[in-house]
Amino acid sequence: MNSPALAVIVLAAGQGTRMKSALPKVLHAMAGRPMLGHVLAVAKALSARRTVVVTAPGADKVAELAAEWGAESVVQDRQLGTGHAVLSAEPALTGFDGNLLVLFGDAPLLTAATLSRLTGCLGADAEIATLGFRAQDPTGYGRMVMQGNSLQRIVEHKDASQAERNIDLCFAGMLAGKARTLFELLHAVTNDNAQGEFYLTDVIALAGKRGIRCAMVEGPEAEMQGVNSRAQLAQADAQFQARMRLALMDAGVTLISPETIYLSADTVIEPDVTVGPFVVFGPGVTVKRGTEIRAFCHIENSIIGANVILGPFARLRGGAKLDDTVDIGNFVEIKNAHLESGVKAHHLTYLGDAHIGTKANIGAGTITCNYDGFAKYRTNIGANAFIGSNSALVAPVKIGEAAIVAAGSVITRDVEPNALGIARGRQENKAGAADQIRAKNKARKNRTD
Ligand code: UD1
Ligand code: MG
Repeated sequence: MNSPALAVIVLAAGQGTRMKSALPKVLHAMAGRPMLGHVLAVAKALSARRTVVVTAPGADKVAELAAEWGAESVVQDRQLGTGHAVLSAEPALTGFDGNLLVLFGDAPLLTAATLSRLTGCLGADAEIATLGFRAQDPTGYGRMVMQGNSLQRIVEHKDASQAERNIDLCFAGMLAGKARTLFELLHAVTNDNAQGEFYLTDVIALAGKRGIRCAMVEGPEAEMQGVNSRAQLAQADAQFQARMRLALMDAGVTLISPETIYLSADTVIEPDVTVGPFVVFGPGVTVKRGTEIRAFCHIENSIIGANVILGPFARLRGGAKLDDTVDIGNFVEIKNAHLESGVKAHHLTYLGDAHIGTKANIGAGTITCNYDGFAKYRTNIGANAFIGSNSALVAPVKIGEAAIVAAGSVITRDVEPNALGIARGRQENKAGAADQIRAKNKARKNRTD
């Protein structure tokens, strides 16, 4: 049987005052991705036909993010409550005749699996399904008043009696139902309550009066957490990190001291990779099989091939592409550079805006001087080239295949293939001069004492 089409409405018009931030709350990042991005990723995983984000006036950046994820956005002119927010998406969904799922932009831990259970129970038995959880501390949440396994109504904390406040079954905020039914019920909701708001939650009692059955699906509290403050964002992030680390280990990745490793939501690590302690993965990182990332590396927007060794203390700043078996040691920084297979750069090096051919050896202290204060220039190093230690390669410059650059050189002109490039003062040894210098220095010291 074909399940009906799904539209998702994400509520994201709240002010988020407790974040104390110029940035809209839903744009604050968890694991390198804005909270709203996490919610939109889930909508995508559910194959939602339409996704509409409800934003506050002037929240252009929120609308931009929505568009990046292929979602539409509508503006809720005034924040009159969650029910009103859902209704402000109604015009955008004119003619849509499937199921509707309402999500909150500040609940980034929800999984597609839990939401599938929610939408999955819509059908003959229930026209509306709500997501609930047992809260350790239910204060502030809407309480779910059940009769048997049928949900009667949801009462907001501020409107609840003492007896109702003793209920620990809380509304997570997510709800699904036939779009037409939900919109129709929402039009009947009033704002006659403690907060003078149009509550989404009131649709349940209204449904009951019309003989529409509402189901309740219980999910894990860990997924329901909403984020209102930076402390809660940190907690949510910690939880997401723990989840990702477990998933990686289950998939065959070795994490040493996993709790010290920071991942981004889009980090891809293949099996048989080993990651040492205190490694930070910024957004956009892929690591292929068999690679070892040693302690204290910081990596973003980079592709790391198979059987690479990286670090300890290496930094890939973005646009780094390391082919298989590249070997990068400590205090090496790489930016916008492609290193072909077998390249070695073992210590203390900056490789920026560069292409380095296979098996080239980059000596300690090599610097690509890629920036003149105005523009960036490229360095091209051929296969099997050998760059001696402490060389400055002043870009734009080409080092030919199998060329050698002598240690300590400042290379400003191209070096032909197989040539030796040497650009440094010539050494002279003066026999006995050390003693003469010592004598001279001693005499000077005695005069000034
Ligand atoms: C809501 C639920 C409560 C539930 C809790 C779970 C209602 C009336 N209450 O309460 O039962 O236990 O979530 O966290 O639904 N928003 C708008 N426009 C508005 C108002 C809110 O877009 O006019 C958005 C907010 O940005 C937020 C979400 O809706 O993402 C929830 O709003 P919030 O004010 O946090 O609702 P709660 O009081 O937490
Ligand atoms: Mg809330």
